[in-house]
Amino acid sequence: MKHAATFSAATAGSGGTVGLVPTMGFLHEGHLSLLERARAECDTVVMSLFVNPLQFDREDDLRRYPRDLERDLRLAAAAGADVVFAPEVETMYPEPPLTRVAVATLADHFEGPHRPGHFDGVATVVAKLFAGLRPDRAYFGRKDAQQLAVVRRMASDLSFPLEVVGAPIVREADGLALSSRNVFLDERQRAAALALNRGLASAADAAEAGECRAARLVELVTAALAQELQLDTEYVALASQDTVEPLEKLDRPAFLALAAWAGPTRLIDNVHLDASGDGFAADRGIRLDHPSVLYEGG
Ligand code: PAJ
Repeated sequence: MKHAATFSAATAGSGGTVGLVPTMGFLHEGHLSLLERARAECDTVVMSLFVNPLQFDREDDLRRYPRDLERDLRLAAAAGADVVFAPEVETMYPEPPLTRVAVATLADHFEGPHRPGHFDGVATVVAKLFAGLRPDRAYFGRKDAQQLAVVRRMASDLSFPLEVVGAPIVREADGLALSSRNVFLDERQRAAALALNRGLASAADAAEAGECRAARLVELVTAALAQELQLDTEYVALASQDTVEPLEKLDRPAFLALAAWAGPTRLIDNVHLDASGDGFAADRGIRLDHPSVLYEGG
């Protein structure tokens, strides 16, 4: 596996179809599932690893974002990456960038207002990765539902000649969605955080049974979250998968998403509701049957 720090080093010699998996590192099985999917579908698999300052709205969040390059290189190689593109901040942004890619309206709700500038930062860095690495396919997790919609729309609006692939959420054995931030949860916060998946799972059951009132689906999630004093809910909402507009009725492909604080750690989770026959099928994600690599080494 090649470890590259510049676009030209990363693209040199890669042949056939190129699959890109953009990440900010501190890899877990969510990232690894994207690498494995790319490995199965592409000739060359490139993983980018860059903690993008442009998308952090809080200085402390950027500072304490977990980093471990050696560990990430080892895990990426084992999952079949051919190239890890891990540039320095100065390489990605030799000068403070004056250009921003902003996907209008898709950032208006949910994560957008809570994280000012976040999606412009994401869309800008992903556009740079698409331009510099020229992938044929790019893989993103459904974990970040709004980000997936923003990236899809950005790639289409700017005519990037590639396919954006969205992949299921990978969850820990007890249902908690994998996130690099899970390492910050203490025992009580972690136990409380299980309510996120519990609430979403009961709403998923209801949606599959034909419940299409957003208010009712939201209520099922809110009720589960309210049982945990450790949690502070930011939002729970049903949104269109394509436009991210809030929905009052489940009448098109949608996701039911939430954000909640467990102590100082902000968690997000969702369930995608995909059209299936006359109704909707919930994508409940994939559960690990073993402890995550996040907790290896204590
Ligand atoms: P990061 O949080 O490192 O996530 C990288 C990719 O892994 C994203 O597509 C994310 O949706 C996916 N992912 C994270 N947790 C997952 C899980 N539990 N199951 C499935 N997929 C999961 O998202 C970013 O980085 C950045 O915003 C980035 C796109 C790299 C731009 O800087």
